[in-house]
Amino acid sequence: MNIAFEGRTVLVTGAAHGFGRTIAIGFCERGARVIACDILEAELAETVRLAGASCEARPLDITERDAVQAAVGEIEARDGGVDILVNCAGGVLGQVGRPIEEIGEADWKAIFAVNLSGAFYMTQAVAPAMKRQKWGRVVNISSGAGLGISLTGIQAYASAKAGQIGLTRQLAHELGPFGITVNNVAPGFVRSNPTTERQWEAMGKEGQDRLIQAIALKRLGSPEDIANAVMFFASEQAGWISGQVLSVDGGK
Ligand SMILES: NC(=O)c1ccc[n+]([C@@H]2O[C@H](COP(=O)([O-])OP(=O)(O)OC[C@H]3O[C@@H](n4cnc5c(N)ncnc54)[C@H](O)[C@@H]3O)[C@@H](O)[C@H]2O)c1
Repeated sequence: MNIAFEGRTVLVTGAAHGFGRTIAIGFCERGARVIACDILEAELAETVRLAGASCEARPLDITERDAVQAAVGEIEARDGGVDILVNCAGGVLGQVGRPIEEIGEADWKAIFAVNLSGAFYMTQAVAPAMKRQKWGRVVNISSGAGLGISLTGIQAYASAKAGQIGLTRQLAHELGPFGITVNNVAPGFVRSNPTTERQWEAMGKEGQDRLIQAIALKRLGSPEDIANAVMFFASEQAGWISGQVLSVDGGK
């Protein structure tokens, strides 16, 4: 199967590092023009340097609905619309697991804003042009935490990712009649950023061994493992697959 994206405009959120950067590079390698969005401008510039000339940086806070609408409007005016949207921005925002009675409203809402509302605002902004062209792909990045429980113990993270999976299923039905697929990749634990490095260290040798032994393939995944699943969902070949959640976690 030859997966190629020549002529496609792809918008990837959370592209400043981690999975999003690898996903942006993967699309560029397969011929797409990529708009890499994130709040971290310096790291976005590094993504562009690694991905090459077909990648451009677009600083954007996906939790700001008006800013999202404006950015997508400008892209449409210039390029004629986004063909493929990857909602990768998210994470635990530096939070750690704490007992429920200690969680403040701001912490709860911040995790929902980036992991769930941001994916909603982005999809809402790109959907009209996708509907007009009768073709589109939306790929959301959730987590094993959205299907089961979170290793971190962060209630808002497990809840927001589960909500994002619900949004995936619902939008698959709403947008399907327009030739738009909406799918979801649920990664297992991958050492992809400073937060996951800290989580890995905190497990200690015993915890690390336990984690790996619970994985069918007996290894941790890489950002490329996650990006490969995104490439498939975004491809022409996945045109009759929608509303699905693919666990990319080495097998549980
Ligand atoms: N690494 C893992 O083990 C793992 C496992 C399951 C799911 N995930 C999910 O995969 C996605 C990517 O994770 P990662 O490990 O690459 O993390 P990461 O921290 O490297 O990437 C997340 C990116 O989102 C960006 N971001 C945060 N808030 C934003 C906002 N308001 N607007 C725009 N961008 C914003 C961050 O700046 C960062 O670059 C996240 O949604 C995360 O929840 C990661």
